[in-house]
Amino acid sequence: MKKTSIIVLSLFGLIVIGGLVWAYSNYKAYAPTTYIVENETGTTTINTTTKTETPGAPTYTLADVPTHNNATSCYTVIRGKVYDLTMWVAMHPGGKPAILSLCGIDGTEKFNKKHGSDSKPNTNLDRFKIGVLN
Ligand code: HEM
Repeated sequence: MKKTSIIVLSLFGLIVIGGLVWAYSNYKAYAPTTYIVENETGTTTINTTTKTETPGAPTYTLADVPTHNNATSCYTVIRGKVYDLTMWVAMHPGGKPAILSLCGIDGTEKFNKKHGSDSKPNTNLDRFKIGVLN
């Protein structure tokens, strides 16, 4: 193979690889961070940037939770994990008051009492996790 062909082919290869890297970085930058999820109880929006399950999940203290004690912003703690139930207030099949009663407090006891090992409520709960209590 001629020297010039090798150079041309190498340059072509570099351009293709560069293009792929560029496309991937754009995809990462513009990939949606919120998803609309429909389930049997309605439609909700999941924000993947706050739904981190990795060890880097945000940590909260019990002092962060009481400020989110209403329907506009409803955080609760269940079994040491922090959940943002704001979206769920209006969607809960068991009514708004039940969820509002959890906002701003450690709701472990109340939740366990009603739904402790029920699979649907526990699966739904998972979707609203925003971090752990330290
Ligand atoms: C004090 C806390 C709560 C109370 C008192 C409560 C109460 C209720 C009630 C009365 C129902 C109606 C049907 C039934 O009796 O099972 C219900 C259903 C349901 N709740 Fe709750 N709830 C609470 C918290 C939660 C939370 C935090 C979630 C999840 C984020 C949740 C998810 C669900 C789901 C998915 C259903 C439908 C169950 C099914 O269709 O099998 N609940 N809840």
